[in-house]
Amino acid sequence: MAFVPPPISSSLPPQPNPVTPSGDRPLESPSPTAQEIQALFNRIAPVYDRLNQQLSWGLHGIWKHMAIKWVNPQPGDTCLDVCCGSGDLALLLGEAVGAAGQVHGVDFAAEQLAIAAQRAQAHHPPLAITWHLGDALHLPFEDDRFDGATLAYGLRNVVDIPRCLGELRRVLRPGAKVAILDLHRPGNSLLRQFQSWYLAQQVVPIAQDLGLREEYAYLAPSLDRFPTGREQVALAQAAGLRSAKHYPIAGGMMGVLVAQK
Ligand SMILES: C[S@@+](CC[C@H](N)C(=O)[O-])C[C@H]1O[C@@H](n2cnc3c(N)ncnc32)[C@H](O)[C@@H]1O
Repeated sequence: MAFVPPPISSSLPPQPNPVTPSGDRPLESPSPTAQEIQALFNRIAPVYDRLNQQLSWGLHGIWKHMAIKWVNPQPGDTCLDVCCGSGDLALLLGEAVGAAGQVHGVDFAAEQLAIAAQRAQAHHPPLAITWHLGDALHLPFEDDRFDGATLAYGLRNVVDIPRCLGELRRVLRPGAKVAILDLHRPGNSLLRQFQSWYLAQQVVPIAQDLGLREEYAYLAPSLDRFPTGREQVALAQAAGLRSAKHYPIAGGMMGVLVAQK
């Protein structure tokens, strides 16, 4: 029987037409637009999970579990995963909050959300997750709603980081925590060189074999533009979050920003 994914609620402001795969300009160019990013994640959706697994040697699952632990969701909680993509963190949150809790996953790439919805539907026991086609910069929720929030590999992709952090703060209830996992440029020059080599010589060629060279070549420039851990802490504080701390992972090639409302 054909699978019919559950409906996804949409709160997206009207989006201009996304760029075509050939694009108006290369994705490696400085600061791609939100529409270019949205189109990119829609295009890579069919291979996104497989490539994540392969390119991180399976380690992204461990890092995502770590992010969940920092938020410490409890049975019955209501939690949010922003830029949820194909749903890894939302599913983990769903398992943690259980049948008495609720999870909301937000992403602006419909193709990613369709995969997330299929994965949730195939999960046993069933998980109470609602998927929203929405914008991380205009979260479709009232203030002070969530007991915890996560965001993995998405902050680097939003076009307005302070606004995204401000939205997270707004929708968290006072005292609730957010954990933001992402790539990071390590301070150590050897690790930095290794990371650059890995992105250019391993990630891009593997993606190229799948016809997605351009889509994965965006990683290095997006990382170069991304604030350092210290800068992320300052941005979180400026957004009104407290107890902000950036924890380096994998020698600083990855990191988790943890903060509280
Ligand atoms: C690298 S993926 C990460 C997906 C997932 N969190 C994971 O860890 O596998 C980044 C996601 O952020 C989403 N995204 C980027 N900017 C967004 C925005 N302004 N609003 C909603 N989603 C956004 C993309 O569509 C994409 O699915």
